[in-house]
Amino acid sequence: MTVWRLGATALLGLVAISARGQTLDLFTVGAFTESATFSVANQLGFFTEQGVNVTFSQIPNSTFGYANLLDGVVDLVIGTADNPVNLRFNNDSALSIVGQLDLGPDIIIAGISSITDIPSLRGKALMVDSPVSGYAFILREVLSLFGLQLNTDYTFQVIGSTPTRFENLINQSLPDGTPTFGTILTYPFTVQGSALSPPLPILARISDFIAPFFSSSLAIRTASANSSASTPLVRTVSALLAANQFLADPANQNCSMLAIGAELGLSQDLAALEYASAINPVSGEVSQANFTVNTQGLLNVITTRMLSGGFAGAGSSFDFADAIVPGDGKLIDYRVRDAAVGILKPRESGSPCDIGEGSV
Ligand SMILES: *[C@@H]1O[C@H](CO)[C@@H](O)[C@H](O)[C@H]1NC(C)=O
Ligand SMILES: *[C@@H]1O[C@H](CO)[C@@H](O)[C@H](O)[C@H]1NC(C)=O
Ligand SMILES: *[C@@H]1O[C@H](CO)[C@@H](O)[C@H](O)[C@H]1NC(C)=O
Ligand SMILES: *[C@@H]1O[C@H](CO)[C@@H](O)[C@H](O)[C@H]1NC(C)=O
Ligand SMILES: *[C@@H]1O[C@H](CO)[C@@H](O)[C@H](O)[C@H]1NC(C)=O
Ligand SMILES: *[C@@H]1O[C@H](CO)[C@@H](O)[C@H](O)[C@H]1NC(C)=O
Ligand SMILES: *[C@@H]1O[C@H](CO)[C@@H](O)[C@H](O)[C@H]1NC(C)=O
Repeated sequence: MTVWRLGATALLGLVAISARGQTLDLFTVGAFTESATFSVANQLGFFTEQGVNVTFSQIPNSTFGYANLLDGVVDLVIGTADNPVNLRFNNDSALSIVGQLDLGPDIIIAGISSITDIPSLRGKALMVDSPVSGYAFILREVLSLFGLQLNTDYTFQVIGSTPTRFENLINQSLPDGTPTFGTILTYPFTVQGSALSPPLPILARISDFIAPFFSSSLAIRTASANSSASTPLVRTVSALLAANQFLADPANQNCSMLAIGAELGLSQDLAALEYASAINPVSGEVSQANFTVNTQGLLNVITTRMLSGGFAGAGSSFDFADAIVPGDGKLIDYRVRDAAVGILKPRESGSPCDIGEGSV
């Protein structure tokens, strides 16, 4: 592993100097969890190769995460597309989507060990991040397909992001002792929950009900969508894109598994299962060439929110069909993505696996 030190210029211009004398721009990515693509990028030096020192900033809940993006505290947020869709269409927030990372990474409804099917959730409380955000709407749609309606057949507990809900689910209670019975889990928690003894039961797999689904988007302030090729934002997106292509290449399987295990602190057995989840063509991270948005997946995000009456701000005459057409300054704005593709540094297939190289 390379040893890094913070250079004196870091105090002046938000740059760090690596041991090799390379200047790195500091950049913060806000996200709920570390995707396999992020793990590969960080562990295998894709960020440093693009001259950025990327810090992962864990988002505690979506309200906070996207408010920080709008306020300029962070410049890129990786999270469910429903957030920018909601904030842009309901609130006229100046957010844009650079591209799509995944199709709903291992999104499941998980229960505590005594709950073994969806009908057993009747009369129970389920944990959500926010009652009016993407995962809550997914939960409502799938439960309604089993004949269960919110506040009639089950209730919500507003808890926060997936890591916290995962811990509470294992504990079968909230920190104050209130019992809990189920929640939405995603990569990398779905695999970890299944490996527990006893395993957390998988009550439903979302991709069996809603597919394709546009889950993780790379979101920015619309004002930064015109970034030129040299910006840390463009170079960070380019590093993620190169890492994503590396992950998608079967010749790199062993190295990708090592990167995932090292980044998440998992055994190689679990890392192999996480890898399988990440490359699943229906729900994983490797189906969106150049991070291009799956239009049908985006429409499914919109109709899922619509089913729960989630477009009060937009109103009933809002033209969604027009609003999702990509364009400069629009919801989907490919300028940063195109600049990132333009400076892409692809890694040769099956190249040496230097885990920890340039990780931060
Ligand atoms: C979201 O996180 C922030 C920062 O930790 C916290 O102050 C806020 O109460 C949280 N909101 C919800 C709804 O949990
Ligand atoms: C979005 O608008 C709704 C009302 O239409 C308001 O309650 C909510 O606070 C707004 N959210 C943000 C993040 O501005
Ligand atoms: C889960 O339980 C453990 C041990 O009882 C405790 O240390 C931990 O704080 C709990 N986690 C949550 C999120 O409440
Ligand atoms: C991008 O647009 C913003 C205003 O929206 C402007 O301040 C900035 O200079 C522009 N950047 C580039 C690289 O054109
Ligand atoms: C991956 O590792 C396994 C077991 O260590 C080995 O058999 C296999 O040849 C490796 N695959 C590649 C593509 O290097
Ligand atoms: C990705 O972008 C590159 C550069 O514009 C282009 O050559 C390639 O065809 C694109 N790939 C796909 C699958 O769209
Ligand atoms: C990244 O910056 C942090 C300080 O913000 C520093 O501790 C770390 O060594 C830097 N990493 C690299 C690879 O330069």
